[in-house]
Amino acid sequence: MARKGVLFVLFLCFAEFAVCGGIDQIRLLGPQAVNLWKLEAARSRSQAQGTLLVQDEQHTGYAQESKSKLAKEFPEQWFEQPVDHFAKVNETETWHQRYWVNTRHYAPGPNTPVFVLDGGETSGEDRLPFLDTGIMDILARATGGIGIVLEHRYYGQSLPVKNLTTDSLRFLNNAQSAADSAHFMANVNFDGIDEDLTAPAHPWIYYGGSYAGARAAHMKVLYPDLVWGAIASSGVTHASIENWEYMDIIRRAADRVCSGNLQVSVELIDSLLSNPLTRTAIKSLFGVAALEHDEDFVSLIESPLGYWQARNWDPEVGSTGWDTFCAALNGKFEQEEPDMGAVSYDESTDMVIIEGDLMVPVPVYNYAKYIKDNFVSQCPDGAVEECFGTWDDSKFHDTGLDQTWRLWLFQVCTEWGYFSTAPPKGVPRIVSRLLTLEYESKICRQAYLPGKHFAVPALPNITAVNALGDYDIEADRLAIIDGEVDPWRPVTPHSEYARPREDTILRPFKIIRGGVHHWDENGRSDILEEPPQIQMIHEEIVIFVTSWLEDWEAEHSSQNKH
Ligand SMILES: *[C@@H]1O[C@H](CO)[C@@H](O)[C@H](O)[C@H]1NC(C)=O
Ligand SMILES: *[C@@H]1O[C@H](CO)[C@@H](O)[C@H](O)[C@H]1NC(C)=O
Ligand SMILES: *[C@@H]1O[C@H](CO)[C@@H](O)[C@H](O)[C@H]1NC(C)=O
Repeated sequence: MARKGVLFVLFLCFAEFAVCGGIDQIRLLGPQAVNLWKLEAARSRSQAQGTLLVQDEQHTGYAQESKSKLAKEFPEQWFEQPVDHFAKVNETETWHQRYWVNTRHYAPGPNTPVFVLDGGETSGEDRLPFLDTGIMDILARATGGIGIVLEHRYYGQSLPVKNLTTDSLRFLNNAQSAADSAHFMANVNFDGIDEDLTAPAHPWIYYGGSYAGARAAHMKVLYPDLVWGAIASSGVTHASIENWEYMDIIRRAADRVCSGNLQVSVELIDSLLSNPLTRTAIKSLFGVAALEHDEDFVSLIESPLGYWQARNWDPEVGSTGWDTFCAALNGKFEQEEPDMGAVSYDESTDMVIIEGDLMVPVPVYNYAKYIKDNFVSQCPDGAVEECFGTWDDSKFHDTGLDQTWRLWLFQVCTEWGYFSTAPPKGVPRIVSRLLTLEYESKICRQAYLPGKHFAVPALPNITAVNALGDYDIEADRLAIIDGEVDPWRPVTPHSEYARPREDTILRPFKIIRGGVHHWDENGRSDILEEPPQIQMIHEEIVIFVTSWLEDWEAEHSSQNKH
């Protein structure tokens, strides 16, 4: 329990926690995730000397000291933007968008490239390691260019509004944020750089991972005159109302024993919940007998599955939470558990006998213990409904700027979807069948009361996103890079639903073997510390980007001759 840990790592990685470099809020979905966010925020506020919610000692993330080192080398800068790019001139207010620049490798000249990393759905501060040792530095070093992290509107300190009411959030959408990036590229002046490096006079290469990866692809399609090249890493270009495939990737890719134990556990739990005689006993084993709605219970026990996405090849970036969870699940029965009530072990059947002579397999018992130790233990005694219940709408009505869970969730509810529901009948599953679209999406109606200017639709309108290309999105100098076992892969162009493509220099289409979520985005200052498949993808990116820049020079020098 050495350091302050990462709690609910994938639901709750926000700037203020000083950890979680490289982890996206894109998993923050559904009503239970908001509860967990709030629990963690409360814990973080009270600063009660670090009881670890999830034991995760190895995940130290980017420690505070390295953050302040980065802040010193890359001071924040600001660029003025209109709140509404599509308003009549003079009718809109302005705000300041934050960005950071790496000029370490800058070589002035007419062909100097500019690399911009889209901060996506989190504070841009969380992306600074990518400017220091990650993909921005790798590309700038290879080409004599500059690297930028551009914070996304409404995230971090790039705030166009004073609160997060539905009306205030109405300018948080794809069209506005794409227009921000375009306006920035065409007009920015960099401190300490005399040259005009704006687009299209210089070649700009736009990079993003995850949601920002989809944005990179969208920028190439929407603003081809400004964006010379783009790299969409784990780019979720297919918006979808339901996204059961996310958990199915985990089921298929995880360690077989762990995946099998999960499958057996959730099937048994579902059947115990459907029987009035055993319903309370199973919830009681998990420490939440008083939780009224079974959906809230199965949603709570689904939470650790998010650790799969948080894995990274670099232990300083990723979480080991998945391995810890699986080790707990797969373990042998251990006798001394005073919290678990009167239980006994039956060696002949390898079952644990719990309350009311109910017998459960050892993994179910272990699962219950894990949830109790890591989640329920954070909730004050007798308050499980307050902690993990999701049916009291007033819980979700705080619209202060500190309620940052409202941001990505608003994008989910309006344009993106991805509600994590149970798979169709007949498909094996590691989540409960009680996780319906109705349950997962009710937060959209609970959290965003209709405003004067805007109302959140009953279900997200995913048409606009998919109209930009969906699985088929493509362009010259648009690279698609995905992870083989990324739970988001089913909504990228590497989905099993997408058509196969060639991998070419002009249209790179690459998969990182064994990779999870945008594993090319982070790097080590000593490249030899990277595993072979990461060194390889970094080399490949440098090769195709260098070739794109040669094309730019050829085109522009021939123009000069005329
Ligand atoms: C609108 O802005 C333009 C350019 O800044 C200025 O010339 C014009 O007077 C403004 N109009 C009003 C009504 O403020
Ligand atoms: C939110 O901000 C807007 C304008 O910035 C203001 O008119 C409104 O009263 C605020 N609402 C709340 C609930 O704070
Ligand atoms: C959804 O969005 C598309 C494109 O933005 C629009 O044409 C359509 O009318 C919208 N559908 C609904 C039901 O609002």
